[in-house]
Amino acid sequence: MKEKLGFDTTLIHGHLKDRSIGAVAQPIVPAVAYSFESHEAAAETVAGKREGIYYGRYGNATLQSFEERVALLENGEAALGVSSGMAAISTVLLSLLQHGNHVVVTKDVYGGTYHFLKTLAPRFGITFSFVDCTNLESLAAAIQANTKAVYIETPSNPLLTVLDIEGIATITRQHRIPLVIDNTFMSPYLQKPLNLGADIVIHSATKYLNGHGDVIAGVIVADQERIDFMRQQIMGDLGQVLSAGDASLLLRGMKTLGLRMERHCYNANAIAEFLEYHPQVARVYYPGLPSHPQYEIAQKQMRGMGGIVSFEIKGGLDAATAFLDALKLIMISFSLGDPETLVQHPATMTHFALPESVRRESGITDGLIRLSAGLEDVEDIIGDLFQAFDQLSIQTTRKRSETAWMK
Ligand SMILES: Cc1ncc(COP(=O)(O)O)c(C=O)c1O
Repeated sequence: MKEKLGFDTTLIHGHLKDRSIGAVAQPIVPAVAYSFESHEAAAETVAGKREGIYYGRYGNATLQSFEERVALLENGEAALGVSSGMAAISTVLLSLLQHGNHVVVTKDVYGGTYHFLKTLAPRFGITFSFVDCTNLESLAAAIQANTKAVYIETPSNPLLTVLDIEGIATITRQHRIPLVIDNTFMSPYLQKPLNLGADIVIHSATKYLNGHGDVIAGVIVADQERIDFMRQQIMGDLGQVLSAGDASLLLRGMKTLGLRMERHCYNANAIAEFLEYHPQVARVYYPGLPSHPQYEIAQKQMRGMGGIVSFEIKGGLDAATAFLDALKLIMISFSLGDPETLVQHPATMTHFALPESVRRESGITDGLIRLSAGLEDVEDIIGDLFQAFDQLSIQTTRKRSETAWMK
């Protein structure tokens, strides 16, 4: 048998070491505390001299299996499972930055990350610069003497901006600062940032890793030393641990990650092509379309183009709202990466925390809609979009004729 198992085999079996009790499905170990055969063993475990779990706020046995599996899938040394994607983001940033430090952040960043930096970072004396990281020169110029990390998201939420990971990693290596990547939109099936030169990978495991919309979770992958520091010095003190029950749901959901991602990509691609030719759509954002500004980079570093499509509907806020309300199958929801196709309006929903001027500057217009392609039959998804556009035209025509007689 091959020494390194394939991706889908690893998703299902991990590294074959968890077979001691013979359970085919992952056992849930809800114990908070663990006992030791001697005082010496307990003291050494707490001091980190001996491997082991000692108290549930620092991890649990089921979570450990999840962490080992994600580390394998991302090709990293170790992983830390936490209670949400935001817990992963805050743990990483607080582990790298302290009073007087600075971080360079891509300007196309998830709304929660933006909010964390704007509201919490200043309270700890941490400064930040939001930079257009599609321009490597601007990125390099933004690095200061006290810059301790570069933080990016690719493809970004909600505009699917793709960043050149290898190009950015070359710059961060020259400056000896860690490169952190939020890989939520891709999952390790479609993109492996550590192989491309990143140092730390973050996921909102709430999304594709779990894939069933019933767990809030996050995970960080990095070298063992960094993960140990985050577990002991940050996550444990902030109390952001992930429960054994949630870790078991993640292990179950992840078994089908490869199959799901292929279907998400297939459906998203068909939807993007449909939208690109629709007369009521002004612009489509999908890295798989040759019209995408970073199409070449996406082809180079991503195995598939992902399940998220954003598009700008003609007619601004009124048209976007009427369109969303006209959908019958597709649901209006904040999340993504679920089996159900979900849509949301970034300007008033996920990116509501951004000031209007920042939203406009970054392209999050009132007509922008983000769609997370689900696993349904793609004809049904497109059929629903089609009928919602029809409803919109009927409403626009009706409005026009209602006011026409006034002239
Ligand atoms: C790209 C990205 N990163 C992080 C998060 C935060 O994840 P969570 O909701 O699990 O805290 C989200 C949530 O939507 C996201 O889209």
